[in-house]
Amino acid sequence: MFAVYADKISREDPLGGLVVGERPDPVVPNGWTTVTVKAASLNHHDLWSLRGQGLKQDRLPMILGCDAAGYDEDGSPVVVHAVISDPDWAGDETTDPKRSLLSELHQGTFAEKVAVPRRNVIPLPEGFSFEEAACLPTAWLTAYRMLFTQGGLKAGDSVLVQGAGGGVATALITLARAAGLRVIATSRDEAKRARALEIGAHEVHPSGERLPAKVDAVMETVGRATWEHSIRSLKPGGAIVISGTTSGPQLDDAMVTHIFFLQLRVIGSTMGTRGELASLASLLDATGTKPLIDRTLPMEQARAGFEAMEAGELFGKIVFTR
Ligand SMILES: NC(=O)c1ccc[n+]([C@@H]2O[C@H](COP(=O)([O-])OP(=O)(O)OC[C@H]3O[C@@H](n4cnc5c(N)ncnc54)[C@H](OP(=O)(O)O)[C@@H]3O)[C@@H](O)[C@H]2O)c1
Repeated sequence: MFAVYADKISREDPLGGLVVGERPDPVVPNGWTTVTVKAASLNHHDLWSLRGQGLKQDRLPMILGCDAAGYDEDGSPVVVHAVISDPDWAGDETTDPKRSLLSELHQGTFAEKVAVPRRNVIPLPEGFSFEEAACLPTAWLTAYRMLFTQGGLKAGDSVLVQGAGGGVATALITLARAAGLRVIATSRDEAKRARALEIGAHEVHPSGERLPAKVDAVMETVGRATWEHSIRSLKPGGAIVISGTTSGPQLDDAMVTHIFFLQLRVIGSTMGTRGELASLASLLDATGTKPLIDRTLPMEQARAGFEAMEAGELFGKIVFTR
């Protein structure tokens, strides 16, 4: 079948290992099913995989992609929950030590078909296109959990979103605004700051600029480049919720003194549960909000999408269609 996959890992030249070609049809274990993919969205995770982060050499070749929407074996429209937990695991799938994301242990979604556990197939939310639904399982679900489950934020609270242009960041801005929060966003790029205002930020600033007022919480996915600014931007007792380190995990200064003196909370967040995916879909439905798609490309042109993400030239999600 047609597939977009990694056949090499390289930290320096990740796109050198990207192949748009053919792979065997999925093998379907007991309790699993196949989904015929109509749309799949690109995540920074796919670039990390090509760099060998989360994907080991002995797993190659590996079809990339965590997110998919398409048809199940009965022809019903569905979306795939990307967190694969152990069959014996009960409760929050994101805390299962044996969990993985599609494309880490099991073949991913950038293909004609993907095999997934039956419990990972969820009916397509009402009113969603395949392209819109394909944005939900990773970036939008991660943003939902960061804000509401891990961050515990509620209407009226203020939140800073670092690095406005990314898939998770645009989801954070949109969801925070829809939930009645005061939203401040930063970006390195003036045009992206203007777009952030259009999608719901109340206030935007160049990355690293001192904020006029401190915030209740910071949503951090950038890491090294923004960490210090994130810590300095918090009110006493505020929370930094972190789910990624796009610019690198090695901090120049972890700001530990600030953290204890101001009693700040540092909270990790990873993906989201099946239940949170349903809550996310309900929130979007109730507020008339839809995922922001930067561009839609036929899956055959996946390389162009990867190149745009590597260069940081995107605002919202890049979606591949079949
Ligand atoms: N833990 C999880 O479950 C989980 C789930 C999803 C994503 N993630 C992680 O979250 C991160 C974002 O993912 P994504 O798919 O949204 O990626 P993306 O679409 O490629 O977005 C990258 C973002 O990083 C910002 N950025 C990059 N380098 C920067 C720098 N030097 N200084 C300031 N900002 C910088 C960009 O902001 P501007 O261009 O606007 O400045 C952009 O918003 C990735 O590291 C990913 O692995 C984790």
